[in-house]
Amino acid sequence: MLEPTKTVDVEKVRGDFPILRRTFDGKRLVYLDNAATTQKPKAVIDSLVDYYSRYNANIHRGVHQLSIEATEAHEAARKKVARFLNAGSHREVVFTRGTTESINLVRFAWGPAAVKEGDVVLLTLMEHHSNIVPWQQLAKERGARIEYVPLTPDGRLDMGEFERLLGLSPALVAFTQCSNVLGTINDAERLCSMARSAGAVTVVDGAQSAPHMAVDVRRIGCDFFAVSGHKMLGPTGIGALYGRRELLDSMGPFQTGGDMIKEVHVDGARWNDVPYKFEAGTTNIADAVGFGAAIDYLASVGMDRVRRHEVELLRYSFEKLSAIPALTVYGPADPESRGGVISFNLADIHPHDMASILDAEGVAIRSGHHCAQPLMDHLGVPGTSRASFYIYNSYDDVDAFIAALLKAKKVFSV
Ligand SMILES: Cc1ncc(COP(=O)(O)O)c(C=O)c1O
Repeated sequence: MLEPTKTVDVEKVRGDFPILRRTFDGKRLVYLDNAATTQKPKAVIDSLVDYYSRYNANIHRGVHQLSIEATEAHEAARKKVARFLNAGSHREVVFTRGTTESINLVRFAWGPAAVKEGDVVLLTLMEHHSNIVPWQQLAKERGARIEYVPLTPDGRLDMGEFERLLGLSPALVAFTQCSNVLGTINDAERLCSMARSAGAVTVVDGAQSAPHMAVDVRRIGCDFFAVSGHKMLGPTGIGALYGRRELLDSMGPFQTGGDMIKEVHVDGARWNDVPYKFEAGTTNIADAVGFGAAIDYLASVGMDRVRRHEVELLRYSFEKLSAIPALTVYGPADPESRGGVISFNLADIHPHDMASILDAEGVAIRSGHHCAQPLMDHLGVPGTSRASFYIYNSYDDVDAFIAALLKAKKVFSV
């Protein structure tokens, strides 16, 4: 029997995730790679099987019953995403393949018309490559320049520098709400308010925040917000971009082809209304339905409980980790101001060696640069090991993780 945290009955939750019954050489799976992708509850898996078994059809274009049912399920999923993010309307939610594609949508459909030669694009040093490379490409194309908000020694944004850099009147401010390496939770509401006062459009990378805490895009006051379904119990290949209606209306298309048009004639075309203007071709219908099922599941647990549960696991982990000499944990020390992500290095053990030893103990963690090489350069390390939590993790998982860590310490005599 796994010990529940005070907020989530982990034993019950785990029963909903078939993959967690797997064992490796008799050891139960301790899955701590949730920042990379999460496991799927049976309700999500069943929603995909149900879609393909009962009402698979192309959407929006058909008048037959199957197409009507598929369209309704797809659009119902859009409304669930809108409610989950507290968007003003489901029309502000564009389905994409995930956070990376959502950010690229902004880069291609908003960027070229909005960013001019000599403009500044303001990013932070804790961004994932998905929130750096699209802007580097846009800056190169438009003759703009990128500035990065530096970090404090404990892995928070240097707000004094942020304020100073806003003085450059950036056209765009793009930042993550929660770092996938440091766990730092940025005050998105404050950052967006400051950026807006400086005249900038804001893009918030919600890949690591939306799965783990209640998000309210209207309260945050951002222009764009990007999420990935697979990091919040949903299928891979589906995600969403929230965009403020006026901006979405004013933007050109992302990709062109079927479904994103109202009319096409030999000499040109007129675009469809938002959000369909941004959804060219046959999209990921089944996975959108599965994304909706994942949101239903998270709503049944409650996002505040998801967050509390992870803070409890973090607090417990930090107590145990603080007793291990030669261990460096990156990011803020206070569990309340960070997400359930623990990046660390133990003496000079290479992160890949660490992950391999943990794997032999049935503990799945990630190692490497976590698609955040500018941050690795800043930390002065080639990579880190990273354990990350979700609702099905327990104190026992933390114990298994710590025991495996101590085993690595012994193997390497550090
Ligand atoms: C902070 C952050 N942004 C963006 C991404 C990219 O997400 P995806 O690969 O689902 O597009 C990730 C994935 O790890 C992430 O952690």
